Amino acid sequence: MSRFPLGRTAHIAVLASGRGSNLEALLRAFPPDPPDTRALGAVCLVLSNRAAAPALAKARAAGVEARHVPYRDRDAFESEALAALEEAEVDLVCLAGFMRVLSPRFVRRFRGRLLNVHPSLLPAHRGLHAQRQALEAGDRESGCTVHFVDQGVDTGRIIVQRSVPVLDGDSEASLAERIREQEHVAFPEAVRRVLVGEVAADAEVRDRTEVR
Ligand code: GRF
Repeated sequence: MSRFPLGRTAHIAVLASGRGSNLEALLRAFPPDPPDTRALGAVCLVLSNRAAAPALAKARAAGVEARHVPYRDRDAFESEALAALEEAEVDLVCLAGFMRVLSPRFVRRFRGRLLNVHPSLLPAHRGLHAQRQALEAGDRESGCTVHFVDQGVDTGRIIVQRSVPVLDGDSEASLAERIREQEHVAFPEAVRRVLVGEVAADAEVRDRTEVR
């Protein structure tokens, strides 16, 4: 079990189902071949349940090993994913738009080393369509949360939050875009905090940065 800080460059894996803009932000912050031997972390593996996910192409273009792991069922997917993560000696796993719920077995295996980004200010609007939930609730403020993954859906300990205003006339898409820009700041920051040992799954640290 990895304990942070590791005293060496951490191996980071990213699981992504979609376009992979958060993956790109993580790749910028933690490139696969860091020029500095004292780099905190390097993205070394990207896995996707979707063969056509742009995230896989982006990973390959960046020179990172990228694998499609078919989602026949959760057990088969997780067994193959866990084997790949072990083979790559992964220390930290980032869920960056990974649209499947992981089993308790997987979550336990990476306890304290599994992070997710969610497009709301948790604990508000857990689960799917968080931006739609915010609009329907009439919220004037929204944002993103990076948190440790526990056994629940979007319930784990919060590491970083960044807020954005909800503007008159916002659509789900326009709000999602404004939130996503903040995810690209929040996710690398959360990874950095975990890797330096500033925050752990069992010790709460909150950082809310207002964006106006
Ligand atoms: C993000 O909005 C994230 O909050 C949600 O899925 C989206 C992924 O976007 N979980 P991308 O694939 O990183 O561009």
